[in-house]
Amino acid sequence: MGAFQEKFEKAETAFNFEDVILLPGFSQVEPKDIDLRTSFSKNIPINIPLVSSPMDTVTESEMAIALARHGGLGVVHRNCSAEEELEMVKAVKRAESFIIKDVITINKEATVGEAAELMKKHKISGLPVVEGRKLIGIITGRDVRFTDPSIRVEEAMTKDVVVAGPTVTPEEAVELMKKHRVEKLPVVDNDNQLIGLITYKDVALRGEYKDASRDSEGRLRVAAAVSPFDLDRAKLLAKYADALVIDVAHFHNKNVIEATRRLTREVGIDIVIGNLGTKQGVLDSISRIEDVAGLRVGIGSGSVCITTEVTRAGAPTLYAVSQAADALEELGLKIPVIADGGIRSPGDVALAIAFGASCAMLGYVLAGCKESPSPMTIINGKYFKLHRGMGSQSARQKRMALDRYATFSKEIPEGTEIWVPYRGDVASVIGEFTSGIRAAMGYAGASNIEELRKKGKVAKIFSRREKSPSSQSIML
Ligand code: XMP
Repeated sequence: MGAFQEKFEKAETAFNFEDVILLPGFSQVEPKDIDLRTSFSKNIPINIPLVSSPMDTVTESEMAIALARHGGLGVVHRNCSAEEELEMVKAVKRAESFIIKDVITINKEATVGEAAELMKKHKISGLPVVEGRKLIGIITGRDVRFTDPSIRVEEAMTKDVVVAGPTVTPEEAVELMKKHRVEKLPVVDNDNQLIGLITYKDVALRGEYKDASRDSEGRLRVAAAVSPFDLDRAKLLAKYADALVIDVAHFHNKNVIEATRRLTREVGIDIVIGNLGTKQGVLDSISRIEDVAGLRVGIGSGSVCITTEVTRAGAPTLYAVSQAADALEELGLKIPVIADGGIRSPGDVALAIAFGASCAMLGYVLAGCKESPSPMTIINGKYFKLHRGMGSQSARQKRMALDRYATFSKEIPEGTEIWVPYRGDVASVIGEFTSGIRAAMGYAGASNIEELRKKGKVAKIFSRREKSPSSQSIML
């Protein structure tokens, strides 16, 4: 046999979700008792195996907040300036923190009008008044609403402020706020220097979302996408985000790997690399980069991808997951694998886990939610939201105008734009997915994610299914 014929004979099978099925196994668990806790990256645990794509029709702060509240994690997109991306991350961190550290303050010489402006700009309802860092009062929405905007803050503020010390617990804070009927509690040290702020809303919400993904300070977790060549942005975001995701279409590339190696040395938080598609890609990347905290895998299977149509190159998500898992097994390493691209149903997530993934990344499914930043439209009486590939013409145009690192070596668009059916809020979609994943795990006989990965058995199927729900979408 000639060498080229042999290439075909020895070719691997690049399978995807439509090619396999999860087999029923002996079960001892009820779906309600199944534990969905898993990891996004080495040091970032999450409570459900669902994270969102860094795409500008999917993840900005509203999506990231909603997802973290329900136990998942959002990765904010980078198709904007570094400052805008940082603002999105900060908004998630501020959303429900117990003690807010970067408190927005005002000084006593400012006017009431300026205080009102500041509150409006940051969507907050009160400002500690400081002299240097010393707390001297507090001014709230109530104080400014009926006061002449030209008078000084000092005259309108409450001087007798109820405060807490740095070691206050959430329970003590609630008690103090209830007792004094205040909604904001500045935190001060022994010299009355302001070191933080507690709001009633934040402490109350902590009780409401018990399964939320939170950091050690009780703030919602969030990750941010970066280019491997934009070290300044990475350093800026690393001060606030829980993890960074190196966001390139083809990670297995000399320049990308080298740039990421430099970046990981300068940035002290978890770095997820991707996208990768083959075992060799994972081996080469991990051997050259010291501390890889996560792998994002799958190339060309996304709902808005036309990479494979254009280039005939790609690594279907499920195949890519199995390749990454095999590489990690060979190296004896435990690094979470994120299955990315083409996920439509809870069963797809279960299959990805059975092949070695820790969690799944959703673009299409979440683009259709209320909390996605994309526009909504009505077509033939039905609601749709826009979803576009980050390699689509319009997304690339926006990036070219903004980001000097986005000089394209590739001239052809590799993404498209579609209208996806509106599917309500994130809470209901997450509910639908977690029930479905639990049901799938029940069939497979797995009581937790690790067990599904180890015990989940699959069978090949030969009747190809349609590349389904996208047929409900409308191409632009
Ligand atoms: P879904 O199917 O969930 O996939 O919408 C989301 C993932 O698709 C990838 N992505 C792209 N792939 N061209 C591509 O080939 C693109 O323009 C593009 N934009 C996003 C990305 O990995 C995302 O998480």
